Amino acid sequence: MQSSNPEPESYTTPARAKRKPLSLEQKGTSTISVHGGEARTKPSDAITDSIVCASTYTFEDSQSIIDFIENDEKREEYGRYGNPNEKVVESKLAALDGGEHSIVYSSGMAAIVGLFMAKLNAGDEIVFFDQCYHRSREFCYKHLSRYGVVTHQVPTGDFDAMQAAITDRTRLLVSESPTNPQLTCVDLEQFVALGKENEVETLIDATLATPYNIKPLDFGVDYVLHSATKYLGGHNDLLAGCLTGSEEKLADVRKLRGIMGGVNSPHNLYLLQRGLKTFELRMQRHNYHLLLLMANSRSVHKVSHKQSYLLFQALV
Ligand SMILES: Cc1ncc(COP(=O)(O)O)c(C=O)c1O
Repeated sequence: MQSSNPEPESYTTPARAKRKPLSLEQKGTSTISVHGGEARTKPSDAITDSIVCASTYTFEDSQSIIDFIENDEKREEYGRYGNPNEKVVESKLAALDGGEHSIVYSSGMAAIVGLFMAKLNAGDEIVFFDQCYHRSREFCYKHLSRYGVVTHQVPTGDFDAMQAAITDRTRLLVSESPTNPQLTCVDLEQFVALGKENEVETLIDATLATPYNIKPLDFGVDYVLHSATKYLGGHNDLLAGCLTGSEEKLADVRKLRGIMGGVNSPHNLYLLQRGLKTFELRMQRHNYHLLLLMANSRSVHKVSHKQSYLLFQALV
């Protein structure tokens, strides 16, 4: 699927634009994490993107402002609505997840809160698997409840319980895979099927798997979320989060982010972009170490057959 996060065309020379780009299917993970979302030629012929610090952007004259507003032109305006470094990172993350569109937030929690606040109204209900990250669940049962949203929590992987908790007010089914911290892998086919049968949207927080090990959108999940603070950033020096899905479904989420804030500084985005360059190499090493651990540890009997299968599958 081609990302709808636009690449910064102004950086592309006509000569370069003539080249036929590889389709996403032809690109490997490392190619996407190094080059995805980036203009082929950059200002000053720099090989890396520059950090654009501006909080606000200029217009040549009043007519340019009128054109911008009336024609809904795609350009920078004010940092809370977008920034050149953010565009590159969002395109890269959308490509890594095989999604159409990504929105980057200042943390994983900001991404979760941003989605829920955009999609849920008073009287709506959501159903969580109960091993999801405790702060995500806490936001819902403690804070969304103040706005009239009801949260149901059911045992992780128990699809009968999830079905029983669904009512005609249910708007979203939420799970992680694997869950944090118990590392339970959820059957995404069943999860998506349940959502579709009940006409309820689905969210998978795939922070611990990363797009290297699983791409929930390929299973038909509506939204995939990552705390980029973990493996995507990869160096313990930043917080960030991202949501990926179709441009259509994420349009209202992006609009609300422009109001609520929760955006990254350009410096933070640069760090995330830099960290992503080594994404595949790091994930290969993480998976290799996990397999060594599984092969050598006596506690490995606690890893179910299905979990080991998913892990091995990711490595071959
Ligand atoms: C699975 C999962 N989702 C979301 C979050 C929240 O991410 P952040 O710490 O970037 O806000 C975490 C944090 O530990 C997490 O483990």
